[in-house]
Amino acid sequence: MRRGHFEALRPICPVCRSGALTIATAIRQDDDDLLEGILSCANVSCRREYPIVDGIPIIVAAIRAWLSANPLQLLLRDDLSPELEGLLGDVLGSGSAFDTLRQHVGIYAHDHYRVGNAASLLDRAPLAGGPAIDVGCATGGTTFHLASRLEQRVVGVDLNFAMLRVASSALRSGRVTYARRSVGLVYEREEVLFDPPSRELVDFWCCDAAALPFADATFGVAASINVLDCVPSPRDAVRELARILQPGATAVIATPYDWSPNATPVEGWIGGHSQRGDHRGAAEPLLRALLADEGLAIVSEEESVPWKVRLHERSTVEYGVHLVVTQKM
Ligand SMILES: C[S@@+](CC[C@H](N)C(=O)[O-])C[C@H]1O[C@@H](n2cnc3c(N)ncnc32)[C@H](O)[C@@H]1O
Ligand SMILES: [Zn+2]
Repeated sequence: MRRGHFEALRPICPVCRSGALTIATAIRQDDDDLLEGILSCANVSCRREYPIVDGIPIIVAAIRAWLSANPLQLLLRDDLSPELEGLLGDVLGSGSAFDTLRQHVGIYAHDHYRVGNAASLLDRAPLAGGPAIDVGCATGGTTFHLASRLEQRVVGVDLNFAMLRVASSALRSGRVTYARRSVGLVYEREEVLFDPPSRELVDFWCCDAAALPFADATFGVAASINVLDCVPSPRDAVRELARILQPGATAVIATPYDWSPNATPVEGWIGGHSQRGDHRGAAEPLLRALLADEGLAIVSEEESVPWKVRLHERSTVEYGVHLVVTQKM
């Protein structure tokens, strides 16, 4: 965690929502970069603590639930040879938590550091100002892209620690390694050397899109690229996005509405159900209404922009995402 980002963004506790976070313990650091430490809420009746692991502060409200749900992400090692990793992957098998993580991380790392499909969605929006937040940044390539474009401080936030680890490695060592899926359980180890001019402007934090640890009106720019259909409550995520924006700030929201009941219960979907209703199950009118409710005025909108996701050697999915550029009233 960069102290510069911490001091500029002045995070608040996601539990009591009033206490400022302070650096209670600095265990390991490299200049202004705190690699291991503990943050604590200054509110005496709260005093929650949040760990900083591998340079990534984990500032989530349900910290105990998060830690017990994510031991693999947290303790996963990245120093195994491709041969041994392949053997362990074969033994654990398809559908194992290990294989699912390896696949997801590989998909986004490959796009973010070799291809740039998500970054090209961001490039459809005119953006200026800061500081900026990239919500659901995954492996962080779009966060670096945003920082280079804006030349402003940017924080990338995501709940997936394995993804954030790749982002952190890009930030701190300029090296990105990931497993690129060929077929089945067969992967090739890829390595990309990465030296963006924007490095100093970027940091990555582990936070929930629906409970961001920032005061109202903190950010001048926000990106929420392909995230709304991955969170338990898209409505809460839009509300949070609107809350942390300064008046006049720009938010770019893109979503393929690719609902999965594992990520979002059907009741939380924006469209995609109730075909008998006024909108016949369409999502777009509901997102527009939700944005209006939260004080986000639509500046421009594209109904279907191509976004490709490579799954393996013989499979690439092409979505048509709804892309909306909004301005906070
Ligand atoms: C489909 S991926 C998109 C990643 C990236 N924005 C892109 O377009 O390449 C969705 C991302 O949202 C993250 N995510 C899901 N639920 C989240 C939450 N509640 N808070 C923050 N991030 C979340 C996932 O971990 C994942 O990295
Ligand atoms: Zn607190």
